[in-house]
Amino acid sequence: MELSGKRIIVTGAARGMGAATVRAYVKAGAHVISMDVNDDAGIKAAAEATAIGPGKAEYLHVDVADKDSVTASFKAAVETLGGLDALAHPAAIQRMASASDVTVEDWDLMFAVNVRGTMLTNQAAHQYMTESGGGSIINFGSISGLRPEPSASAYSAAKGAVHSWTRTAAGAWGKDAIRVNAILPAIQTPMAAEAIARATPEQNEAAYWRNREPIALGQAYGDPDDDLGPVMVFFASDASRFITGQLIPVDGGQTSIR
Ligand SMILES: NC(=O)c1ccc[n+]([C@@H]2O[C@H](COP(=O)([O-])OP(=O)(O)OC[C@H]3O[C@@H](n4cnc5c(N)ncnc54)[C@H](O)[C@@H]3O)[C@@H](O)[C@H]2O)c1
Repeated sequence: MELSGKRIIVTGAARGMGAATVRAYVKAGAHVISMDVNDDAGIKAAAEATAIGPGKAEYLHVDVADKDSVTASFKAAVETLGGLDALAHPAAIQRMASASDVTVEDWDLMFAVNVRGTMLTNQAAHQYMTESGGGSIINFGSISGLRPEPSASAYSAAKGAVHSWTRTAAGAWGKDAIRVNAILPAIQTPMAAEAIARATPEQNEAAYWRNREPIALGQAYGDPDDDLGPVMVFFASDASRFITGQLIPVDGGQTSIR
């Protein structure tokens, strides 16, 4: 699962799973363009990954919800990389609201970043990967897109849309040797920590039984580097060349054992 010679874009790369994915790819020898809206943290994360090597990461700004931004950033990235072999696309946002309380503003924001962002980045990647003779697109779904999510209604609906899109894109682009899969993670990151910080003690007690207790491997979210990084390397590598259209839980058993 060496990635030396691979040319990869990673979105949401300033923190969390995106930053861990950049580290994993650079450690495996890839040339990475990392992208985010959070430029200060994104530049720092790319520099830290490059310092470890043996590959390298360079940072570019992108707003994945904005077509012009995606078009310009992917064009610049591919010019630097000399082609495109893989896209890892963790960039997303989460806002909490019940089915009764969710606002139009939050609904539209969640669908703009999480769903339109997936479509725009995947379309751009498809264009450049076709020119490169194929590639791997790794989207990010969620257990929230598979089950009712009483306190995160729009996020749940948006992740369900990401799952459907992943299947459709995999079906459409297999002829171009482009595979499209989605990771469904349960990994400890700032997004996961912020959800705990926002919640009341009662909500966190309920969230433990809903989210953490079903994780057979330790009743705790996984580590971004040790538990997710190697999976991201596998899906960017040729070792996963016959896997497409799949929703892959990386969650210690949470999705299946609940
Ligand atoms: N943490 C979990 O256990 C968990 C569970 C299920 C699904 N997920 C999904 O996994 C993915 C990664 O989650 P994470 O926990 O690392 O999240 P995170 O919040 O820690 O990181 C997300 C990154 O995306 C960036 N981002 C947000 N909006 C953007 C935009 N418009 N354009 C470009 N970048 C943008 C943020 O700045 C941030 O750096 C997300 O798709 C999330 O929905 C996470």
